[in-house]
Amino acid sequence: MEQRRKTGRAGEQNIPQEQVKQRMEALRDRIREHDYYYYVLDQPRITDAEYDTLMQELEAWEEKYPELVDPDSPTQRVGGQPLTALGTVRHRFPLLSLTNSFDEGDLRDFDRRVRQAAEEGETVTYVVEPKIDGLSVALVYEKGKLISGATRGDGEVGEEVTQNLKTLRCLPLRLKDALPRLEVRGEVFMSRHEFERLNQQREAQGEALFANPRNAAAGSLRQLDPRVTATRRLRAFVYQILYLEALPNEMATSLAYGNDQLQALQYLEEQGLPVNPWRYYCSTLEEVVQACKEGEARRNDLPYEIDGMVIKVANSVLQAKLGATSKTPRWATAFKFPPQQAVTRVEDIILRVGRTGVLTPTAVLQPVRLAGSTVSKATLHNEDIIREKDVRIKDQVIIQKAGDVIPEVVRVLSERRTGEERSFTMPSHCPECGSPVVRLEGEAAARCTGAACPAQLREGIIHFASRDAMNIEGLGPAVANQLLEAGLIRDVADLYSLKRDELLKLERMGVKSADNLLQALEKSKNNRLGPLIFALGIRYVGSRIARVLAAHFGSLDRLRAATYAELRTVPEIGEKIAASLITFLQNDQNQQILEKLEKAGVNTQDKREDATVTASLAGQVFVLTGTLSRMTRRQAQERIEAQGGKIGSSVSRHTNYVVAGEDAGSKLDKARSLITTGVAPHLKIINEEEFYQLISDK
Ligand code: IVH
Repeated sequence: MEQRRKTGRAGEQNIPQEQVKQRMEALRDRIREHDYYYYVLDQPRITDAEYDTLMQELEAWEEKYPELVDPDSPTQRVGGQPLTALGTVRHRFPLLSLTNSFDEGDLRDFDRRVRQAAEEGETVTYVVEPKIDGLSVALVYEKGKLISGATRGDGEVGEEVTQNLKTLRCLPLRLKDALPRLEVRGEVFMSRHEFERLNQQREAQGEALFANPRNAAAGSLRQLDPRVTATRRLRAFVYQILYLEALPNEMATSLAYGNDQLQALQYLEEQGLPVNPWRYYCSTLEEVVQACKEGEARRNDLPYEIDGMVIKVANSVLQAKLGATSKTPRWATAFKFPPQQAVTRVEDIILRVGRTGVLTPTAVLQPVRLAGSTVSKATLHNEDIIREKDVRIKDQVIIQKAGDVIPEVVRVLSERRTGEERSFTMPSHCPECGSPVVRLEGEAAARCTGAACPAQLREGIIHFASRDAMNIEGLGPAVANQLLEAGLIRDVADLYSLKRDELLKLERMGVKSADNLLQALEKSKNNRLGPLIFALGIRYVGSRIARVLAAHFGSLDRLRAATYAELRTVPEIGEKIAASLITFLQNDQNQQILEKLEKAGVNTQDKREDATVTASLAGQVFVLTGTLSRMTRRQAQERIEAQGGKIGSSVSRHTNYVVAGEDAGSKLDKARSLITTGVAPHLKIINEEEFYQLISDK
């Protein structure tokens, strides 16, 4: 029926071109309108079948009259060609981040500072919005058309993802008015439902799972191929006008709108942009606190994840008066929700052998609902932590999820012990290969010493194929396992000599998957040098350091020929990294792998300088206080230093960041007082999760 209509309409002969043009325009307008109802308001007004009919008719006309295709037509959302790398853009207006508030006291301090800056008798109003747990983007509309979009990156420079953003059906390619220029900021996110769907699909295909909706959204937006992004059904909310150049006849209205955050949001809505309808207008601290409490109570009922509420001074004149530090505005703060907790039982404690041989104990839990998903595992980090918390098999425990995915055990409910509980002991031999397990001095981690440990090899292959490394789609844990078990590969270089008929003999490997895998492998040969160096899995060489090395040496051969002293001259390469590189490169087995990779035709030259690589934490002074749950202090210190940062032992006005772990003490108080007294306005207090975000490779 629809097919008949498609050919029937567009197939009609001798229709004057003007009429066709009008029909196409009318169709485009109707589809845009229904996109708005469906994707922005979530209130469809026609059935899917009716919508499809409109789309098909438009497609048929466009096929017949390609010269009349409008680049902003709803059919053109997935138009761009796959890229070889994402470009970078410098934001015209830096995308600041927010200071955090963790309790009512923090909110009171914030409110006090705001009121101090206000005029005598001035009423201060706040807009309180949910803090969407996604990734921040900046969008630029020119003459009402979406011309560019970028991720936040470090706030100054982000990645250009315009083609990918255009695939988000909730983002209009055209605004209602042809405004000369509008730059907005918003958050791209993935709904819980879509996240579950995507992970189920990936599991079935043996691909690595995304840890949480935020990572899934980031991975989906930072794709080279917009067709992949289009399948991910990402959503977005915009929440801030960065710049507005309105139409002359609109000046008066836009000025009024631009004066107040609530009106700014209404204005963005009127332009057809997706704005979260849930927000509060508060004029007292009590109302702000109430709004934050309501947000927390509602968070698990939402179709998407939020990790707090954002409190913004509504009036833009007062905003301007309060100003900003180099990183955060003084007119806004993020109220972060406390971690969500649940009680369950530890059924078992198992060990996972990582790529570097580290044995990570994991608690297998009786499945329990927590923060909107079912949890059946919690990390126990290492033996010391198990001891410290005295976690035993069969113990009832409180677990929590703090921002990141892998929940952790907070404490044992020892009062509920029955006597059935069993203590865990680290085995003396690797559960996967039987090699002796060692614990090096000063390290919390136990390691398997087996050079040929299959688990290490498997993890190494999964790492090699991962997104930021060689990005080989279709080579996840399940396939890696199969390849190893079938004896088809013994190291990562063997991947490049896999044959189609060998692959087809594997269970559940169809013709299509085999061909896709071979194609992905072929494509990965053209990767840049940075990802290849990262893919090798050299200790302490994360993807940023790998790019630094690639930019400096320009070829794998030159890197291989480098001496320790030469490596040390490279910015950001400290003793640890240099020593680790030398150990890796001098190893015979590794040398053979590198030669095999070169012979297979894997690119080992950098084609161009990567100007975006700089020491991201250069000159920044960090003070660590309290305990971090996922890293030892030493590891944290190494990561900071590897990225050009320094460690301070006490908090002073020279400190840039105080990383507040659990039970942070007097250093945190000192930092707070330096900030509130204005002695160190640039000082930022960050929690563990934010610290990981900061040091994670971009
Ligand atoms: S306002 C200068 N509003 O939270 C104002 N941010 O920790 C900057 N976020 O990087 C941000 N929802 O990615 C704002 N309604 C909202 C938000 C929001 C989520 C994110 C944003 C920002 C981070 C700050």
